[in-house]
Amino acid sequence: MPKMTFIQRDGSRREVEAPVGLSVLEIAHRNDIDIEGACEGSLACSTCHVIVDSEWYELLKDATEDEEDMLDLAFGLTQTSRLGCQIIMTEELDGLNMMNV
Ligand code: FES
Repeated sequence: MPKMTFIQRDGSRREVEAPVGLSVLEIAHRNDIDIEGACEGSLACSTCHVIVDSEWYELLKDATEDEEDMLDLAFGLTQTSRLGCQIIMTEELDGLNMMNV
């Protein structure tokens, strides 16, 4: 099974199992990682904001316009920011890492 790593606010790293087909938000919730996800993935908030490691960012599918619009409202937006509910795990993303903000 693929794995992914969350780098938490205190700098600690959590490597977790990342089943293919689940979103990063779902994976975070399964593992008690602190990402809110208030709208549960319906692109109506930006509380699932994550900052993806730049090498991995390139491998993600492009954000949709709706995701971009919500990201514009996210606190602390960066060049590699994404919404965790919109990143769906695949085999190719094995090793993915990101900061939860
Ligand atoms: S959980 Fe609301 S946009 Fe991702």
